[in-house]
Amino acid sequence: MEPVKVGLLGLGTVGGGTVNVLARNGEEIARRAGRALVIAKAFTRSPDKPRICDLSGIELATDPWQVVDDPEIAIVAELIGGTDIARELVLGAIERGKHVVTANKALIALHGNEIFARASEKGVMVAFEAAVAGGIPIIKVLREGLAGNRIEWLAGIINGTGNFILTAMRDQGRDFDDVLAEAQRLGYAEADPTFDVEGIDAAHKLTILAAIAFGIPLQFDRVYTEGITRITQEDVRYAEELGYRIKHLGIARRRENGVELRVHPCLVPARRLLANVDGVMNAVVVKGDAVGPTLYYGPGAGAEPTASAVVADLVDVVRTMTADPENRVPHLAFQPDALSDLPP
Ligand code: NDP
Ligand code: HSE
Repeated sequence: MEPVKVGLLGLGTVGGGTVNVLARNGEEIARRAGRALVIAKAFTRSPDKPRICDLSGIELATDPWQVVDDPEIAIVAELIGGTDIARELVLGAIERGKHVVTANKALIALHGNEIFARASEKGVMVAFEAAVAGGIPIIKVLREGLAGNRIEWLAGIINGTGNFILTAMRDQGRDFDDVLAEAQRLGYAEADPTFDVEGIDAAHKLTILAAIAFGIPLQFDRVYTEGITRITQEDVRYAEELGYRIKHLGIARRRENGVELRVHPCLVPARRLLANVDGVMNAVVVKGDAVGPTLYYGPGAGAEPTASAVVADLVDVVRTMTADPENRVPHLAFQPDALSDLPP
């Protein structure tokens, strides 16, 4: 069988990591997907920029529409970020009958309702595992692993940059801005890092988690959002002295009249698991009525941890593409039609 051709939009941290993971583990990935995957074309604004990956064998395009318009490409991976050009390109790919994989939580949280409705009409998948909690397969956990549960609440550390900063302030007494600059150098932070430190990125992710866990529409504007910019060294030290740690949490809880959604710094007792999740690591606790509390832990940002989730989505899409349409298991694309309105 011919390999499935993938088009990449963006060759930065996540795009570069995706190229590397597919190159290194290509044979195993092909076995799991049932078909080989090749990155046939990749868009970048700056073809001469040094990259973290080897681009040999990949045709470079300096116009993203050369990727989206290419009839040979079956799956478009949107790894640019932001909500302007990314939205146009994703909708453009869907219109052309292509499946989409994206790591873009802002795009899904703000435009997901529109994107999934259009994808549903066109019969294509939009997969977004990498959009929440980096390498932790939390979307698949909620959609598949816990499918038999009524979710009561979920809570977690869902921004790696923020947790990296709080950990370095506590353990090394380092200055906020200095640690943020390091997170940017390591490729953890958003293009606009205020999204990380003001809680907006975590609110995007909580919006997505809550939509899946509780079957509500994506409602970013209903999330109470507070970041970590007002946390001082003194706050961190006092918390420690009192037996607590300051953690920035995203919390979604089913209430009698709806779902409560909030992201803000919390004092977590030092003996608790979440208090001991450090650096760029993320962790999400999900309480289901049947299973009870469950915990998911792993790297929340960075090139290859995020690529791990992107590639898992590519494999899922290929499996669904190759399955007999009559016998296709409902896939991981979001089904907005199935949502009930449960405002917070
Ligand atoms: P980078 O900034 O490292 O890479 C972005 C890529 O997109 C670059 O190739 C850049 O081009 C291109 N690009 C950026 N803006 C534009 C634009 N306006 N027009 C055209 N091209 C553009 O970002 P990341 O790889 O870190 O992030 C990509 C996506 O993945 C984002 O949605 C982010 O939120 C998400 N994500 C990131 C994670 C991480 O750890 N970094 C983890 C999980 C999700 P050029 O090469 O020319 O600069
Ligand atoms: N900027 C994000 C973070 C990237 O630090 O968590 C992963 O979504």
